[in-house]
Amino acid sequence: MTERRREVRRAIFPAAGLGTRFLPVTKAQPKEMLPLVDKPTIQYGVEEAIASGLEQVIMVIGGGKRAVVDHFDRSREIELYLEQRDKRDLLEILAGVDRLSDQLDILYVQQKDPLGLGHAVWTARRLVEGEPCAVLLADDVILGGPPCLRQLMDVYARTGATVLAVRRVPADQVSRYGVIDPGPSQGRLHEVRDLVEKPQPGRAPSDLAILGRYVLTPEVFRALDRTEPGAGSEIQLTDGIRGALETGRVVALEFEGDYYDTGTIPGYLKANLAMALKRPDLREEMLGVIREFMEAPEPLRESATGPV
Ligand code: UTP
Repeated sequence: MTERRREVRRAIFPAAGLGTRFLPVTKAQPKEMLPLVDKPTIQYGVEEAIASGLEQVIMVIGGGKRAVVDHFDRSREIELYLEQRDKRDLLEILAGVDRLSDQLDILYVQQKDPLGLGHAVWTARRLVEGEPCAVLLADDVILGGPPCLRQLMDVYARTGATVLAVRRVPADQVSRYGVIDPGPSQGRLHEVRDLVEKPQPGRAPSDLAILGRYVLTPEVFRALDRTEPGAGSEIQLTDGIRGALETGRVVALEFEGDYYDTGTIPGYLKANLAMALKRPDLREEMLGVIREFMEAPEPLRESATGPV
């Protein structure tokens, strides 16, 4: 007899990290609020959760993340200012952000110390107890195709397993990621036998890297309950998933969609450029800028380019 599966209704957004790779900008500004052109990365995540049909987003935040809360709240001051000047197009942009929190509930829990991604997810345990839940890392922006979380939720509905989003990455980059040791595969769906966090070069079990989307079963939370951080070290989410492998099934989906890693400076800059080139109002101007840079003699001289 098959056990009746509970629906995935909630997503945890761990957003309590310190974003040290982006210092100094992240000294007093959450990394999740850094924009791709003019929209903060975390807003892309909330839009994906809505498009996936989720009912609740639980943001795990730490000190200094007030701007995230404010972003999804209403700003009457800016509204009033724009109303007085009849700036309807800008008012519509604000209204678009307001509507997000009408379409699902946004809850906040506090991770008091940044003890790792596994700990951040575990911090939200009481709000998801006994239910499967999605996890989205706002750094990983995935656009195009069916919403990535929805793709994982559909796999969960078919399998009842913990589901990881994976993508093949070049061999020289695997040691930056958690990597799966795949078992039998059916097309883009792989059984997971084991996972390794940041394998040594040449020692990765595959080129299938785990990216920032998951559906976790309650077994992962039970495994995280038992995981202790070592002195000064962090609780990894992969430890919780490895624990869940002992009692349950874990699968990995090679998802469809365009993936942007905005968690590193080169990845962030590339994502901004890609997004700007997709915008009809910016495309031509940006192509002109790129051409100008390409044609400029090395080293690039300010006088050759003028102010951008
Ligand atoms: P990262 O390691 O990519 O983010 O964590 P970070 O720690 O903020 O960045 P750096 O390495 O210092 O530059 C992946 C995700 O997990 C969250 C982060 O906010 C990010 O979304 N996280 C990480 C937490 O919520 N709590 C933690 O203790 C650690």
